Parts: sequence; structure tokens; C-alpha cells
Amino acid sequence: MCEYCGCQSLTSIAELTREHDEVVRLISHVRPAYRAGDTARMARTARRIAAVLGPHTQVEERGLFPALAAAFPDRIAVLEAEHRRIDAVLAEAADGTVPADPSWPGRLMEAVDLLRDHILKEQDGVFPAALALLGTEEWEAVEAERARAGGAPARSAG
Ligand SMILES: [Fe+2]
Repeated sequence: MCEYCGCQSLTSIAELTREHDEVVRLISHVRPAYRAGDTARMARTARRIAAVLGPHTQVEERGLFPALAAAFPDRIAVLEAEHRRIDAVLAEAADGTVPADPSWPGRLMEAVDLLRDHILKEQDGVFPAALALLGTEEWEAVEAERARAGGAPARSAG
């Protein structure tokens, strides 16, 4: 990639944004399943969300956030704490499990509401700040982390 035109930064942010869009699309399937009392469907959707968020969160936390943590330590700490809270609820449905805990469907609803707000904070706060502040070396670190993390799995009907 070229060094001065900004395409590195735009490519990295575009990929993270595509993943956010896919997560928001998947979130829209959670509430109907919750209303129908379909915990198995909620669990399947939770696994699809987790599959997108795996590499995505790795790129954010190991590539993008370290470059912003000096300028915005509190905000980055909050975003990372939100990642952990959301991941923990999604993880209860890992490996084909339909969580037996009767509180899980309600907790998943809270987690996806948090996730939607979290995505808005990243889109409207973190990404514009990164585009304004990061330099070539920092975008190279983001790209290197993306190469390690891989991409999200192909979009599936959900
Ligand atoms: Fe994100």
C-alpha cells in the first residue's frame, strides 16, 4: 500500500466498519428470537456475532486502541471493559451450547443493546479520532494485526 494517500487508514477503517454493519444486522435477529422465546436461535445468533467480533476485537485492541490510549486512556479503558462484558455473555453460547441459565436470554438482550451503543461510540468517536491522529507506522501496526487476526467469516443468513 502507498504511504501518503491515506488508503491504509481508509482500508483498515472500512473493514472494521463492515464488521460493525454485519454485527448490527445480526443483532436485529436477536429481539425477534427473544420475543418468540427461541433460546436456541438466540444462541446461534450469539455464535455468529462472536465469530465476527473475534478478529474484529483483536484488531481494535491490539492494533488500533494502543495508538489512541495515550490520548484517551479513560475512554479506551471503558471500550475494552465493554468488550469483556459482551464477550462473556456471548461465550455462554459457544460450542453449540444453548445456555440453560434462565437469565441468559435477558442478559443477551442487555449485551446486544450495549454492543449497539458501543459500536456507535466507535464509529462516531474512535474511528474519526484515529483517522485524525494516527500516522503511517500506527496504521501499519493495525494492518499487521489484521493480517494476524484474519477477517470475519463470510456473511451467513441469520
Ligand atoms: Fe468495533
